[in-house]
Formats: sequence, structure tokens, C-alpha cells
Amino acid sequence: MSDLRRLEQETLAAIEAAADEPALEAVRVAALGKKGTVSALLAGLGKMSPEERRSQGARVNALKDKVTAALAKRRAALKAAALEHRLATETIDVTLPARPSPLDSGRIHPLSQVNDEIAAIFADLGFSIAEGPDIETDDYNFAKLNFPPEHPARDMQDTFFLTPDASGERKLMRTHTSPVQVRTMLRQKPPIRVICPGRAYRCDSDQTHTPMFHQVEGLVVDKQANLGHLKWTLSEFCKAFFEVSDVAMRFRPSYFPFTEPSMEVDIQCSRRSGEIRFGEGEDWLEILGCGMVHPNVLANCGLDPDVYQGFAWGIGIDRIAMLKYGMPDLRAFFEADVRWLKHYGFRPLDFPTLLAGLSS
Ligand code: DAH
Repeated sequence: MSDLRRLEQETLAAIEAAADEPALEAVRVAALGKKGTVSALLAGLGKMSPEERRSQGARVNALKDKVTAALAKRRAALKAAALEHRLATETIDVTLPARPSPLDSGRIHPLSQVNDEIAAIFADLGFSIAEGPDIETDDYNFAKLNFPPEHPARDMQDTFFLTPDASGERKLMRTHTSPVQVRTMLRQKPPIRVICPGRAYRCDSDQTHTPMFHQVEGLVVDKQANLGHLKWTLSEFCKAFFEVSDVAMRFRPSYFPFTEPSMEVDIQCSRRSGEIRFGEGEDWLEILGCGMVHPNVLANCGLDPDVYQGFAWGIGIDRIAMLKYGMPDLRAFFEADVRWLKHYGFRPLDFPTLLAGLSS
């Protein structure tokens, strides 16, 4: 066999045997690289006589073409095989169920859910959120809200008082969210439209009362705010919150030192076999207190009662959460029992919005 034939066979065999692209590249360099075997033959042509060069040149060039073609073919085959291998190893069975993530087992506490629902409803009505501290002064919790000095709510039995500080001032745990009204009016010029969700504290404990509970206060102050606005606002809130198209409300005269007139509000409901439904039936359920802000309160907060008027309300958040989601015992809210939370809690990504639905 001629040297050329042998070289051809060896080179083609090496190309065929190359297991991957780097190995194939090594074969190419060994044959066609600067110092490659085929390149050497091509370089040798220059030293030959014209006749020798003609016959040998044609053969060497034919060899070069064959090697080049074989290299291209093998490279394409290796590429296809590599792709085939990747596709085979990286297949995903898209019909498999998704793996459970921590988001699936975590739950939002019903109170956080209800807080978010309330914020979504009032944000839609143009209200912003105001906050105040849990530890209050007597002045903001009572005096500025027009509580007379001897009012029973100041009684030691209801209010948690702190030990007097060095100056002799006796702070207290706020007994309602109404002091946030005071703070808002002192800070902000009307028009005012705020809700004030937060904790309140009273010395009380049974199935529907805990020493710490949650309220949301509402306050609107401007030059025209009137009772009609108050009733409309509360009725819009109740319909949105209880997710019913209509709800009858009953406004009963009542008394709060900080409003005049003052009312308690009942909403229509039915109670069949222990289940409460809103927007239907013959029964009534008390859900909140409200009224027109007392002129003394406006004046105490630096607003001229001859120019401004306002309305306000206070709702027990825990209470309406219990009603809406059928939770019988308020104390369970604060016991941190994970089984209770799993049962009554909400999925973290189902954030309540008016558009997508509050609780679905
Ligand atoms: N602060 C009252 C309470 O805790 C609730 C309340 C009633 C708030 C009437 C108001 C209101 O703003 O106007 O019982």
C-alpha cells in the first residue's frame, strides 16, 4: 500500500474513532494543521519536478478534500449525538404535579386577612391609613375625646394603667382606636379621610372578649360631611366586606362622649341552624358605633366647629372577622395553635382586592 493510501486510511479511521468534538479537533490539527501530515505533503509538492507535482499534487489535494469532508461529516454527527443526549437527559415530565413549596403550607392569620380586606375597601373610597401608639396619654384617650373626668370608662376595672412616670404622668394602654382621630386632627388640616386600624386593650376576657383586641376607627372631616355621607359610607363598607349586593342597616340612637348624635349600627342577618348570613333574614346584629364628631372634640383638636364638621365610627375587627368567617371563639385568635391557623387561615398569595374578590 502506498504511503498516501495508508495515511488516508489512518486519518479517516481516526476521524471515525473521534469520540467527541475536542478529539476530532485533535485529529484535524494532526492532519491539516500547520505541522499536520497532509499539510506536510502539500508543502513537499514545491520541491518536486513539474511532472511529479502534477500527478502527486492531484492525489494529495484529493486526500485533503476527503479528509476535510470526513471531518465535516463526523463533526455534524457528533453535534447531533450531543444534542440527542442532552434532550434525553434533560427531559421533564410536564404532567408531574408541582412540588409543594413553603408558600403552600404557610397561612395568613384571619385577622391580617380582614385588616387587608378593610384597607382594600376604604382605599377604594379614597381613605388613607393613620396609626398611633398603643400606649396613650389620658389626654388623647379620654380628655380630648370629651370624656368627663368621672366617666366610668376611666375606671381602673376597664383601663390598664401604667405606673406613673417620673413626672407623675400616668399613661395607659389605649382602650380604643379613637385617640388616633385626635392625633390625626392635630396633625392634618381637613379634608380628612382616614381609617385607623390597631390594637386596643381592656380588662375583659370571655368567649367574645380578650384583654387585647382590634378595632378600626374611621374619620371624615371637612366642611360638608354629614349623616347621609356616614350612612352611605358604612353601607358601602358592609356590602363590600360581607360580599353581598344589598344589606339593610338599622341606626339606633346611642351615646358616646365624642359624637353627637351617636348611633349603634345593626345589620340585617338570618340565623338558621347556627349559621349567620348577611343581607337576608329578619334578625339584626350590632356591628359598630358611630356618629357626628362632637363639636368639643373638633375644638379640642384645634378645628373650628363652626367651619368644620365630621363623622366617625369604630368597628371591632375581631368581631366582624368572627362573623364573616364563622369562628366561634375569639380567644383562639391569640393562642397561636397551628391547627387552628391551618383551618381558618388564608393562602399568602391570595391578596384581597376589590377587583379579584376579597376572600376568594
Ligand atoms: N371608641 C368606641 C369604642 O371603643 C367606638 C366608636 C364609637 C368609635 C363611635 C367612634 C365612634 O369613632 O364615632 O367603643
